[in-house]
Amino acid sequence: MGQRKICLVAGARPNFMKIAPIIRVLRARFDRFQPFLVHTGQHYDREMSQVFFEELAIPAPDCSIESGSGSHAEQTARIMVEFEKLCRTRRPDHVVVVGDVNTTLACSVTAKKEGISVSHVEAGLRSFDMAMPEEINRIVTDSVADWLFCTEPSGVENLRREGKPREAIFLVGQVMVDTLLFECGRLAGIDVTAFESAKLKRESARYGVVTLHRPSNVDDPTILRQLADILATISRELPLIFPLHPRTRKNVDHFGIGFGPSVRLTTPLGYMDFLNLWKDAAVVLTDSGGLQEETTALGVPCLTLRENTERPITVTEGTNTIVGRDGAMILGEVKKVLAGRGKVGKRPELWDGRAAERIVDALDRLVA
Ligand code: UD1
Repeated sequence: MGQRKICLVAGARPNFMKIAPIIRVLRARFDRFQPFLVHTGQHYDREMSQVFFEELAIPAPDCSIESGSGSHAEQTARIMVEFEKLCRTRRPDHVVVVGDVNTTLACSVTAKKEGISVSHVEAGLRSFDMAMPEEINRIVTDSVADWLFCTEPSGVENLRREGKPREAIFLVGQVMVDTLLFECGRLAGIDVTAFESAKLKRESARYGVVTLHRPSNVDDPTILRQLADILATISRELPLIFPLHPRTRKNVDHFGIGFGPSVRLTTPLGYMDFLNLWKDAAVVLTDSGGLQEETTALGVPCLTLRENTERPITVTEGTNTIVGRDGAMILGEVKKVLAGRGKVGKRPELWDGRAAERIVDALDRLVA
């Protein structure tokens, strides 16, 4: 069998740390695979995209689509139009999509219509909340993908319930944890004194880290204000550091929302800078999908400011607690953590830094 042309797709910040280990393993097996990387441009700011390529040593994209922002339909449509052209000119033998962003849906559907087989990495996760755009992206992507790589057993169960054949489903672990463990090792050996996070850590030895960017939390002024008040209350006991996602920054400015003096707002941080910050946090408060898993992988207490999670293993085995937007509950959980009674979890099986190898082993057998 000759080299198989594998097209890897990434577009938004949470995709980059997932493709990094897959492309590394594919490139190491250059006698069997010829990977090429497509960046759909869903995220385009340097700090949301380029920084991750540099830090995670991801090769420059072979093809870039400048989809930019806009409504979901506009963004998805622009990616589809350009990705279709790309499928026709480059004719990959296989397309790999990761995660649950608009890029994931756009490229999986387009590739299948071009007669190209598709793998979905991080398949089967379900929040059962159709108000979440990512839930729609997950369901559509899984419904067309040929091979489904799951991070946790719930993903396998969901896919089986939806009628996917057993042979199409692979429980491989989480590629994002491959990156996390790899970069944690690297972080230990580099000088971080110039990092923004190092400066922030010098200001307070004990701190919490906040990230919020879900439309359900940040697009409605009443809800965002309510969350800002909760954070201000917590910050009287525990200083908080809050790197603002562009969506959140825009809304905070637009609605004129204040957080009080002990909530430090920063720009989005690069991967290493942010890792250096959250790995030593007393607690992380977030609505991110990825950070729920990353905190579980490193054993950092995590409070998820959502009503549900598509990653239940972080709650059943990990350090994650779902707290919604209930101020009393959030404060109670923070107090527990500060009193040393925070949740102690364990790292789920297969979150061992070798998920990408398992995926590429499977592709070696599957892709003709
Ligand atoms: C997207 C993903 C979400 C993921 C998140 C991580 C979808 C449906 N959503 O949401 O699952 O958790 O990324 O960040 O795919 N903007 C910039 N610079 C950028 C990118 C965006 O300024 O580089 C601004 C734009 O004004 C845009 C807004 O941020 O309107 C939101 O960006 P968008 O890509 O629409 O969605 P995210 O909220 O980032």
